[in-house]
Amino acid sequence: MTNHKIALMPGDGIGPEIIAEGKKVINAVSDIEGFKIKWNKFPHGADHYLKTGELLSEEALKKLEKNESIYFGSIGDPRIKPGVLEKGILLKLRFYFDQYVNLRPVKLFDGVDTPLANKTAKDIDFMVVRENTEDFYVGIGGRARVGRTFDSLEVARELYNVKFGLDIETDGDEIAYQIGVLSSKGCDRVMKYSFDLAVKQGRKKVTAVDKANVLTEMYGMWRERFETIAKRYPQIEHDFNFVDAITMWFVKNPEWFDVVVAPNMFGDIITDLGAMIQGGLGLAAGGNINPEGISMFEPIHGSAPKYTGMNVANPLATVWSAALLLEEIGEQKASERVMDAISELLVEGKVRTKDRGGSARTSDVGNELVRLIKEKA
Ligand code: NAD
Ligand code: IPM
Ligand code: MN
Repeated sequence: MTNHKIALMPGDGIGPEIIAEGKKVINAVSDIEGFKIKWNKFPHGADHYLKTGELLSEEALKKLEKNESIYFGSIGDPRIKPGVLEKGILLKLRFYFDQYVNLRPVKLFDGVDTPLANKTAKDIDFMVVRENTEDFYVGIGGRARVGRTFDSLEVARELYNVKFGLDIETDGDEIAYQIGVLSSKGCDRVMKYSFDLAVKQGRKKVTAVDKANVLTEMYGMWRERFETIAKRYPQIEHDFNFVDAITMWFVKNPEWFDVVVAPNMFGDIITDLGAMIQGGLGLAAGGNINPEGISMFEPIHGSAPKYTGMNVANPLATVWSAALLLEEIGEQKASERVMDAISELLVEGKVRTKDRGGSARTSDVGNELVRLIKEKA
């Protein structure tokens, strides 16, 4: 019997509640398909940080590395300054494991309402591939006051290291700056992934997102790399959209999109919009993927602190992310069983959480999915 070792990091807010349902569903399909999961739980998040001062130590990363994949809830807590947990845990994981693809499907299921008039499931079905290691997310920047200062900034990545020495002279009271970095290798690998995904899924077109009309250096290079990679895939169409315009097209003509490849920050923003057109954040799944390494699966939403402990959050995004995880570890049939159960639950329309206008609890959704899975076994 195959044994899979999966790291489980429920995190903060609604994280533990939604992860519990995902785990329930994975356990149900593993029983049917005849494989075992060994869950290795990691306590990292706000409470652990407040108790111990640890965000995510080198030791924890080494332990995580012993797993095949990571199943992650959500991070973020109002008691802690914004950015501390987000950068210290979530981004640290994405960067440490060089999960350079953030795959976020945008798909409207039958039975789900979209706020877009006259659009149905056949109109909303595309994949966003968000670059996940570069851009303004490299986390370098600083602040300077009147006079002359020097700052030394460094980005250490699997692909390359880069250092900036900044001689700053300003007569403004205070300035703040943040540096974005793209590399040609970093662009190429995520663009190649996007075209390969189009080929694999029988999709026709890849659209690149940028702001090459203003941030001409970074996104000028992004465009150049995209043109170069696109030439290797003559059978796949390609085009560009400026990020402001694509938000309009997602609303007006979502049926135009097949695979959308975006730099990190724009990818973050447009996928919350993508979530809304497919029925809300409670339904938007994602994977942080390193095709050659350890990947991590999580819903795209955050810790929704106001719902903590209330058993009202929608776990479907987290369950869908579990299906992506199962596919990644080679359990294709189990993944399909999860997706079929989600699809059936949505068509049935009986078990709806608060965000979808119902009164079902988080755990009711998991229980119903398990019932549907067992019924079909
Ligand atoms: P959020 O995604 O947590 O929540 C925004 C709103 O969306 C919620 O108030 C809720 O109304 C709704 N929502 C989100 N998920 C839902 C679910 N599963 N079921 C029902 N409703 C749901 O975004 P936010 O309020 O901007 O951020 C809260 C915290 O989460 C912050 O600390 C932020 O940094 C963090 N965050 C973490 C992640 C992550 O872990 N990947 C992602 C985004 C935000
Ligand atoms: C997401 C979140 C994260 C991001 C934050 C919490 C670091 O918004 O997963 O979409 O910006 O990537
Ligand atoms: Mn986000």
